[in-house]
Amino acid sequence: DRSIKISPSILSADFANFGAECRAIEAQGADWVHVDVMDGHFVPNLTFGPAMCAAIRPHIKGVMDVHLMISPVDAYIEAFAKAGSDIITAHLEAGPHIHRTLQAIRGAGAKAGVSLNPGTGLEDMPYLLDMVDMVLVMTVNPGFGGQKFIHSQVDKVRRLREMIGDRPIHIQIDGGITPETAPLVAAAGADVLVAGSAVFKGGSVSNPAPYGENIRAI
Ligand code: DX5
Ligand code: ZN
Repeated sequence: DRSIKISPSILSADFANFGAECRAIEAQGADWVHVDVMDGHFVPNLTFGPAMCAAIRPHIKGVMDVHLMISPVDAYIEAFAKAGSDIITAHLEAGPHIHRTLQAIRGAGAKAGVSLNPGTGLEDMPYLLDMVDMVLVMTVNPGFGGQKFIHSQVDKVRRLREMIGDRPIHIQIDGGITPETAPLVAAAGADVLVAGSAVFKGGSVSNPAPYGENIRAI
């Protein structure tokens, strides 16, 4: 269903070739490019920061979708906005002041997303929906690619879509998206699917056609 956008996660790309990987996935039909920023504190893994985002920006024609798995967040928002992020997503669980964080993201000129871990409920959403352009529902515990999809999240997506009503807010899903799980979250109301291992498997910068086949299969 092509009203569903695919945002491949470069966490599964070749770390020595990010620029070329971004060009390859866009040429193969990626709608957005998902950038997973991890701090070794909020999540048990380390990736990259704003300098890497700025470096890949010229290699992305479309949306640079930056997922911050860091705590604290606020001190880094300006840097990620200046790096050319179109959407900056912060975790509800990353600190006591998500409302302030979302204000700061919009204040820095980017679209704002709020992300929910699998163990987080929807109780706070009524107070945040007018602050966001996207809600990211994690379908794995954040930190690593290639984990198994957590099925209990599908009902969360359905209830979130109901709460959103006619507001122009994307629901993004991240973790364990495959041709088998994508239809479940799409039917529940998600419209942007992140996929790392399922997009990059079998391909490379010198053999990018599998990326396109994988994207179309989702
Ligand atoms: C996990 C990251 C995801 C990850 C998804 O913390 O936020 O974006 O790259 O990888 P797959 O699609 O392999 O589950
Ligand atoms: Zn992510």
